[in-house]
Amino acid sequence: MTVREILRMGDPRLRRIAEPVSEFGTAQLQALLADMRDTMIAANGAGLAAPQIGVNLQVVIFGTGKVSPRYPQEAPIPPTVLINPVIQAQGDQESLGWEGCLSVPGLRGQVPRFSQVRYQGFDEHGQAIDRVVEGFHARVVQHECDHLLGVLYPQRMRDFSQFGYTDILFPELAAAPSDDD
Ligand code: NI
Repeated sequence: MTVREILRMGDPRLRRIAEPVSEFGTAQLQALLADMRDTMIAANGAGLAAPQIGVNLQVVIFGTGKVSPRYPQEAPIPPTVLINPVIQAQGDQESLGWEGCLSVPGLRGQVPRFSQVRYQGFDEHGQAIDRVVEGFHARVVQHECDHLLGVLYPQRMRDFSQFGYTDILFPELAAAPSDDD
C-alpha cells in the first residue's frame, strides 16, 4: 500500500481512454485499490480515478463516508468502488456546482452536470452496482467517470468567469487540509 504520485493536468496519460477491467478479485486489483485509497486519503479527496495515478483502467473510487472537510455543506456519499462504469442521465435537467480535482490542484470551477444519473458497474469482487443518484453524489460520479474518458472538469465548463483559486474563492476553506476531489 503506497501513496502514489497524482498526475497533473497536461500529462498526456490523463487524456487516454481507459481500458475495461477483465478479471475481478485478483491480487493485482486489490493492490491497485489499496494504493488508490491511500492516495485519496492522503490528499483528502472525495474521489480518485485509476488514470490519475497512471493506471489506464476503468476503476474509480469515491465517497466521503462522513461529511467531507472540503465540502462541509454536502450530504455524505457512501465509500464506493466502481469498475467498468456506465452512466445514463435521468432526464435532461442540469445543475451548476463547484468542483475541484486532485489533478488540477488549488483551483475550483463551476461545472454543469446532469442533476440525476443512473450508474451501473461492478465492485472489486465483480458484484453488480446499479444506483440512481442525484445532487453531489451524481456530480462526483460524473466527475470521476470523466477521468476514464480522458476528460478533466475544465473541459466541461462553459463560464470561465467562475474558475479560480480555491483559497481566493473560499477563504473559509483555506484552513482545511489539502485540495479538491
Ligand atoms: Ni478529478
